[in-house]
Order: sequence, then C-alpha cells, then structure tokens
Amino acid sequence: MTRAAQDFTAPEPFEARPAGAGTAMDGAFSAPLTTLPEAERFDFALGEALFEKLWVPAPSTTRASDGLGPLFNARACASCHPGDSRGAPVDEAAGLSGMVLKLGAPGGGPDPHLGAQLQDRAAPGLAPEGALALEWVEEQIPLAGGESLSLRRPVPRVSPPLGPTTLTDLRIAPQLIGLGLLEAVPEAAIRAGADPEDRNGDGISGRVSELGGALGPRLGRFGQKAGAASLPEMIAAAFATDLGLSTPLFPDPAGDCTAAQTACRAAPMGEDAGLRDGREVSAEALDLTAAYIRGLAVPARRTPGAPQVLAGKAAFYDAGCPACHRPKFVTEKRPADPARSFQLIWPYTDLLLHDMGPGLAETRPEAGASGAEWRTPPLWGIGLTAAARGGPARFLHDGRARSLLEAVLWHGGEARAARDRVAAMAPETRAALIRFLESL
Ligand code: HEC
Ligand code: HEC
Repeated sequence: MTRAAQDFTAPEPFEARPAGAGTAMDGAFSAPLTTLPEAERFDFALGEALFEKLWVPAPSTTRASDGLGPLFNARACASCHPGDSRGAPVDEAAGLSGMVLKLGAPGGGPDPHLGAQLQDRAAPGLAPEGALALEWVEEQIPLAGGESLSLRRPVPRVSPPLGPTTLTDLRIAPQLIGLGLLEAVPEAAIRAGADPEDRNGDGISGRVSELGGALGPRLGRFGQKAGAASLPEMIAAAFATDLGLSTPLFPDPAGDCTAAQTACRAAPMGEDAGLRDGREVSAEALDLTAAYIRGLAVPARRTPGAPQVLAGKAAFYDAGCPACHRPKFVTEKRPADPARSFQLIWPYTDLLLHDMGPGLAETRPEAGASGAEWRTPPLWGIGLTAAARGGPARFLHDGRARSLLEAVLWHGGEARAARDRVAAMAPETRAALIRFLESL
C-alpha cells in the first residue's frame, strides 16, 4: 500500500483522503477525525476550550485560569496556532503573529540571563525581556524560462538589544493537523526510511532523531527539530515556555525565567494547594489538550484528479521530493484506538532529520539536531494555509517564504539537487508542481 506512485494518469486509491477513514471532507483544519468515537468527542471539545482559553496572570479571582507568565509570549495556544494553522513573521499580522525568538549561549544551552526564548510580554509590574522586530535581507534568483524570483530572509532586531554573544534563531508556530496520526506511525517504519550514511547514493541521508534523557532512549518526531517524542511532552513544553504555565511534566511555575531573573522569580505564581496536582495546569488538563491535538483530522484533497495536479505530482516525483516528503505510511495497529489504528495516511514527511544547507541553518544545535538539520515538515493541508489561519500563508521554519515556490527554492544541502531540478523546469511544469502542492 505504501509503494511509490507509478501511474500519473489518475489518482491512486485513497489518495483523496490524507488522514485515512477519519479525513475531514469539508476542508476544515479544526475538525475532529470523523471516526473519533463518541466517548472521545467530549474530551476533544474540552481540550479545544483549553487550546483557545485566554490565561491571566496570578493572582486573579478565577484561580483555574491564572498562572500565566510571569514572562510569556501569548495568552493562548490559539494565538500562535490560529485555526490550528501556523504563525507568521512578526511585522505582518496585526497583533500576535505566532513567531518566537529562540536564544542560546555560545557554549551551548539557553542564554544564562534570558533563558531559552525571548518573552516579549510580562505580568503587570514586570518588564518584558524585549520587543522583537525584523529586518529583511533580499536577493534575486534566476529561474529557467526567463523567470526570476526574490527570496528574503529575516534578521531579528531586539530592543533593548541582547548581549553581543547571545545566539538567536527565529521560528514560527507550525500547523497542528493530523499529529495524532503521525504519533501512530510505527517506529520501525520511520527507521526503515533512514539512510544516515547515504548507502543508496541518492545524496539524501535522513537521520532518526534519537533522544536520551531521564525517560530513556526514544525516537523524536515532534517539533521542527524532532526534539520531542510525544505530544504531551511537546504540549507541556509549550505551556512552560510560551505561556509560563507549569504542568506535572514541567513543574516550574516560573516557566522560562532563569535564576538571574530575580523579579520574575519573586512574582506571584498561579500554583496553589487547592488546585488539582498543585500545578497551574493539571495532569488532566494536559491530557485533554493532548486529546484535542491528537483528534485533529486533515482536510480531504480538493482536486487530486485534475490533469494539471497529476502533471504536478509527476513533477514532484521526477524532482526527487518524495525522498524526504514521503507520501504515505500505514499507522500501527491499535485495538483500543480505532480512529488512529491501521490507517493509510498521506502526510508527505519521513519524520527524519535532514541537513538543509547553510541558507536555512540556525546558529544553535537543538536536542539531537545540528543547526542545519530540520525534520521534514508534513505537506498535508499546506494548500489551505491562508484560509485556515485567516491571513497570508507563510512557509518554512521562520515563515520567510511568501509562496510555495519560494519555500522550494530555499532548499539546500541534501535537497539541493531537488531544488535545482525545480529551478531548471519549464515554467508550465513548475506551475503544475505548485498546483499539486496547493491541492494537498
Ligand atoms: C508564542 C507562540 C506559541 C504558543 C503560545 C504556542 N505555540 Fe505551539 N509552537 C510554537 C512554535 C514556534 C513551535 C515550533 C517549535 C519547534 O520548532 O520545535 C510550536 C510547536 C508546537 C507543536 C509541534 C508541532 C509539530 O509539528 O511537531 C505542538 C503540538 C504545539 N506547538 C502545540 C501547542 C499547544 C497545545 C500550545 C498551548 C499550550 C501551544 N503550542 C502554544 C509556538 C507557539
Ligand atoms: C532532503 C530532504 C528534502 C527534499 C529532497 C525536499 N524537501 Fe521540502 N522540506 C524539507 C525540510 C527539512 C523542510 C523544512 C525546512 C525549513 O523549514 O527550514 C522542507 C520544507 C518544504 C516546504 C515548506 C513546508 C512548510 O510547512 O512550510 C515545501 C512546500 C517543500 N518542502 C516542498 C518540497 C518540494 C516540492 C520538493 C521537491 C522539489 C522538496 N520539498 C524536496 C526536506 C526536503
């Protein structure tokens, strides 16, 4: 079932349903898997409310909603992941954008003063760590057929300025659809796609993200550097770093405040003995938020059989994109979890780390990934980005790309040959490739 496509005259069986039987047929991002059992729909709805909930700093009269910060980036998950879609660079959207600035020390680890991320908002009485703005560096790229395109990359500007040795890397929040299905992809199937020594000689050497730490060896698959093995871990990290909320997994109520930030450490926190687990976000609330993320479906393909889409699919294969954007997987058999069990899914990712070259590289390593390595992002739903987020569609880890073609032309490193094939395509073939991506 997961064999590569051979015939580009008609869609493959089941290709129109990227999330398998549970695919959302109405094109919506925030829909639950249609196969989600009735008993799980209630948790999905409660989790959705937590995802959209606006938290407030402590102390407040609504004890169950306080604990935000003291330093934070947003008041709700949904502020950065609007409509379960992605963020955008800070200077474009009105208000919140869903972009963050990661910080590091030259010798490794977080910045000793400001921690792992710049928090640009703070509880009353406390100063934010800084305000983030962007400068853009632009260059012109020639394409075959006389076309050309301008590519731009953001450079962060923080005021007040950061220390001269602080390392900085920009990220936007990625889309959240279908993640419960990616969690159900068998580890063996991911490992089978890895080729770290490039033994097949195709120039592509995908590597499994091997995580260590207190929980023992695990395979990383979430986060843009595949630094988290499970959704609860990823979500607890978001509560801690983005919102400044403690959970049983990350019990520090001060979130990303360092020991050097004494005013932040001394500020009121939202933990109190009357709350379940004594944490700002209980184990139960964390589970409900995870149930929501795990339950999110993926929209159906719109026109997988249109001639231009099929021509674009052939171009996608010819250019070598499937070597990383692996079209299909079958999820593991889970007798107690029919909605995510044994589904043929079409995520267009191998869930592996790839060296994408200096143009996309960050300054810091993260988890097991180098600055230049990124986990292949899933491409399902990518054509609906603008509609889902209710704003312009921006692509790549920092939202620098204003179009799908720009995103492809930034590919380097292991993906350099694929990128060059796209630049050399006849204009109509390139247009078909983009149409195919838009149909995902
Ligand atoms: C300030 C913006 C911001 C907020 C608020 C935020 N996120 Fe995110 N989220 C991000 C960014 C940036 C990333 C990418 C992190 C990385 O690159 O590893 C991310 C990644 C994720 C991922 C991993 C997606 C994947 O493809 O692996 C999940 C799941 C997630 N967030 C869920 C949440 C939840 C749930 C909340 C609320 C508790 C939340 N986020 C709040 C910015 C945010
Ligand atoms: C060597 C592996 C590899 C190959 C080959 C590859 N990609 Fe990618 N692709 C990636 C990675 C990794 C990223 C994320 C890079 C980043 O965010 O900095 C990415 C990002 C993208 C994005 C943006 C996704 C998003 O969510 O913003 C698109 C679109 C895309 N690729 C399309 C293609 C197409 C089309 C081809 C073939 C011409 C291709 N890729 C070939 C690994 C690959």
